[in-house]
Amino acid sequence: MRLDKALADQGIGTRKEVRELIAKGRVSVDGETVKQPDLQVSESSEILLDGGMLDLAPYEYWLLYKPAGYLSATEDRVHPVVTELIPSKRKGLAPVGRLDIDTEGLLLITNDGAFSHRLQSPKYHVPKTYYAELDSDLPENAAGLFSQTMTFSDFTAKPADGFEKLSARSALLTISEGKFHQVKRMFAKIGCEVVYLRRERFGSLTLDSMHPGEARKLTEKERMLI
Ligand code: URA
Repeated sequence: MRLDKALADQGIGTRKEVRELIAKGRVSVDGETVKQPDLQVSESSEILLDGGMLDLAPYEYWLLYKPAGYLSATEDRVHPVVTELIPSKRKGLAPVGRLDIDTEGLLLITNDGAFSHRLQSPKYHVPKTYYAELDSDLPENAAGLFSQTMTFSDFTAKPADGFEKLSARSALLTISEGKFHQVKRMFAKIGCEVVYLRRERFGSLTLDSMHPGEARKLTEKERMLI
């Protein structure tokens, strides 16, 4: 594709704006400063803008450690949104599903709609592990209660994929569904209010040593193996 189109598709500016950047000598391709906006480039071209490398692959896949206070959305008039935390101007970046505004933890962000759709489909069955802190002690039979279906007014939750009590008032719960407020509602069903919630794991992905607000690109291997 043409160099000016490739840069505009990255969200760097309009075609006119990127042509000006090229004319000013701020763009290099495979080590050479270029001045021709119609130069043909491909995904394997090494394109630098002001010395920073650009990635021509059509899709980006990010893993974000969502902090509390951010909405899982692409824009909002009142609250900051998760896409603001991604260091990319790429158009179409959106969260894969949602975490509540007060929930922290692992959230994927991509502009690959088919990938996002697949991961959210019940058929795909991606296990997600949540760490929860509770306002009261877990009942003795918590594990037994989570190993059965739970009926709510609008849906029946499948038995949890995993439950681990960490202390009287904290636990890990793994589920493969993603209904609205599902984890909070499941704990409420057994008599505990969630006072802090963090998603620790999404399929095979974990937060490792990341900090709230940090984002990193997924490797191709990670993306294939989720
Ligand atoms: N379940 C919830 O209740 N909240 C979340 O943010 C995610 C899962």
